[in-house]
Amino acid sequence: MPYSKRICEKAENIIKERELRAEQDLERRKAEAERMIPEIAEINARIAQTSAELTKVILQRGKNYKENFERIKERNLQGQQMIKELLKSHNIPEDYLKPKYFCGICSDTGYDGVKRCKCYNELLSRLAVEELNSEANMPDCDFEHFSLEYYKGKTDDNGMDCYRKMSENLSVCKEYAELFSLDSPSLLFIGMTGLGKTHLSLAIAKEVAKKGFSAAYGSLLNYLRVIENEHFGRGKDPDSDTMQTLIDSDLLVLDDLGSEFRSGFYESTLYNIINSRMNLGRPTIISTNLSPAELQKNYNDRMISRIFGGFVTIMFVGEDIRMIKNLKG
Ligand SMILES: Nc1ncnc2c1ncn2[C@@H]1O[C@H](COP(=O)(O)OP(=O)(O)OP(=O)(O)O)[C@@H](O)[C@H]1O
Ligand SMILES: [Mg+2]
Ligand SMILES: [Zn+2]
Repeated sequence: MPYSKRICEKAENIIKERELRAEQDLERRKAEAERMIPEIAEINARIAQTSAELTKVILQRGKNYKENFERIKERNLQGQQMIKELLKSHNIPEDYLKPKYFCGICSDTGYDGVKRCKCYNELLSRLAVEELNSEANMPDCDFEHFSLEYYKGKTDDNGMDCYRKMSENLSVCKEYAELFSLDSPSLLFIGMTGLGKTHLSLAIAKEVAKKGFSAAYGSLLNYLRVIENEHFGRGKDPDSDTMQTLIDSDLLVLDDLGSEFRSGFYESTLYNIINSRMNLGRPTIISTNLSPAELQKNYNDRMISRIFGGFVTIMFVGEDIRMIKNLKG
């Protein structure tokens, strides 16, 4: 299992809390219903009594076992039916006294038969991604803090209106986040330094995470370092498998392709991440300072064909906003 002990314990606790919350909620609604409709309390008391009788009958397995069993069962069912009708006549939804689980598959036990439920696996993956993300936190990188003012009145070297182009990019990114699904395309953000590539990719990732998807974001260089350390047994956590977490996340943002120094290990790791995600059909967002020609020069053909063949390119234009902001103080 590619998760650290800390993450497993955290997940286990969350699952237990969900289960407990479902039970407590049900108890609360039961008490509320009994308070509003005292007949329900009486019926519940009778059902509790017959349930005790039923246990006795089952344990003793005496004479007339079958008849007794059926008789008691029938009485319980009748009681339940009466409660249903009482709820209905008080305009309370019929399922008011049914447990409401976070996960309908495992009833919040975390297990679907003997194997871990889908909800448990999703939780583990989300926790692992959140832990990774916490190292790359940039609180203001969201759509609200993204302003188009910086691009006004500027044209790039090809005479392109920066404001118009970046308005379009912003709409594309917002729509991408809004409509995000596992079938969303991969994106490649290309542009000079300080134009908002990191800002917008994080904005997308945060929005996607809010919808409940796991969205990992971080600088490629950092990820490669962590993966390298884990690979050579120098990881912070002996059980964590960052590479697998990145491959498994619903959305992955690899920021700043090209800033890593070249090594065979980095190159094959990067290729594996991108290729595995493509094979699984999972969307990735890559941002880079390198022009298409520079990318071609710096990476091998297998990698380039995957990036140019499988990613939608978005060009960033304008003037270095990092510098403009710094000058303003
Ligand atoms: N349109 C914008 N509105 C407000 N702040 C912005 C905008 N674009 C960028 N910024 C801010 O300017 C700084 C630089 O932007 P960002 O890090 O996104 O640039 P980048 O394109 O990723 O640059 P690099 O290629 O150097 O990584 C960040 O603090 C970011 O929040
Ligand atoms: Mg950046
Ligand atoms: Zn479940």
